[in-house]
Amino acid sequence: MARPKTAYVCAECGASALQWFGSCPSCGAAGTLSETIAEKASSHRYGAGATAAAVAISGIEAREVERAPTGLAELDRVLGGGLVAGQVVLIGGDPGIGKSTLLLQALAATPAPARTLYVSGEESAEQVATRARRLALQAPRVHLLAETQLERIVAALEAGRPQVAVIDSIQTIWSETMQSAPGSVAQVRECAAQLTRRAKAAGAALFLIGHVTKEGAIAGPRVLEHIVDTVLYFEGDPNSSFRLIRAVKNRFGAVNELGVFAMTDRGLRGVANPSALFLQQHPRAVPGSCVLATLEGTRPLLVEIQALVDPAHAPNPRRLSVGLEQNRLAMLLAVLHRHCGVATWEQDVFVNAVGGMKISEPAADLAVSLAVVSSLTDRPIPGKVVAFGEIGLAGEVRPAPRGQDRLKEAAKLGFEKAIVPKANQPKGKIEELEVIAVERVDQAVARLREL
Ligand code: TYD
Ligand code: MG
Repeated sequence: MARPKTAYVCAECGASALQWFGSCPSCGAAGTLSETIAEKASSHRYGAGATAAAVAISGIEAREVERAPTGLAELDRVLGGGLVAGQVVLIGGDPGIGKSTLLLQALAATPAPARTLYVSGEESAEQVATRARRLALQAPRVHLLAETQLERIVAALEAGRPQVAVIDSIQTIWSETMQSAPGSVAQVRECAAQLTRRAKAAGAALFLIGHVTKEGAIAGPRVLEHIVDTVLYFEGDPNSSFRLIRAVKNRFGAVNELGVFAMTDRGLRGVANPSALFLQQHPRAVPGSCVLATLEGTRPLLVEIQALVDPAHAPNPRRLSVGLEQNRLAMLLAVLHRHCGVATWEQDVFVNAVGGMKISEPAADLAVSLAVVSSLTDRPIPGKVVAFGEIGLAGEVRPAPRGQDRLKEAAKLGFEKAIVPKANQPKGKIEELEVIAVERVDQAVARLREL
């Protein structure tokens, strides 16, 4: 096979060179050259005779995409209902979090007669088979290939034509056409691009497993995220047995959907009602705890927010948040002071979302503020109360999206009271739930004292 030519392209100015230099010969930037496959000039030439006709958007017939369920309901939920033909999914996560187990299970659960292939670049075929046996997976149709070389993997894909394939992991795959080491940016990018092109051409779905760096991004170039259709993160507290899978990019569905799994010695089990997981079971009400009715994707979820407010022993009091935004906490403390007379400048303030949840929506504001007030006053919020609502700098409580769904979830789990923004007050009654609607944060704090 003729070796494709490689070139070295500068990430700063885009100039290309035939050999590697420490600094770009064109713009002088240091360490910006990386190896790529030099494309044939013909693919870039749009000369006379080349036509590319644009079409009016109304003239294009929109078809509902067909989705093939993977057989794991929680994975299908994050994918938006299943896999689309030719879909390429990048899934990242810390080592040992369970990525290989999840995808082996997904292939085993893929409904017949689909053919599936699991390419393992990290473990031998025996190791993968042993794991399948230990998890008691019924996977007679899953084919295994222990291989790291791209050209041989592509040949196996051509020969077996699987409808769903998994590459575990993309960082171990290398192409003989490039000199750089496996795992290098150039190798990862080129191998992912070639596998993606093949999956699109064959109309087969492809999962790429990716390692996560210390900073939490998928190792290798960010371009990987641009090449693929869907980016999923598999995460969870290593000390807990719960695992979350979320979509951060999805060309075929909503992002920020959440799938929840419990880890067992028989592999991952989907958790259909995850709210119960994120509620700490306290024998009696404790100060500094408030239950938030949040949304993960389209799914309402109840999460306990905990706050600890304690006298500071250093000149600069600490503001620390786990699973919630730090800057938002500082803002909420300022709003509490200005609009409710709640002063925390001599206090350390810690807040935490229970169960390793990460909450980024502003609708968490009200629950965080109430938990802080509860801890500061050392008064538990009595009874079964949930709260949600965004707090503005003027002290106003703003509505949150899909308030009705949040309230229904709270009622379903036996909550008795909900403190919500006025605009989210439901028109009808929701089961046994008493709705306390507030317009301002000081009203919410005052209502807390009356509970
Ligand atoms: P593994 O899937 O190898 O993680 P990753 O591919 O992300 O590095 O899982 C790590 C270990 O945990 C492995 O020894 C199998 C074990 N495990 C279970 O026993 N049960 C489970 O449900 C999961 C997900 C993993
Ligand atoms: Mg693995």
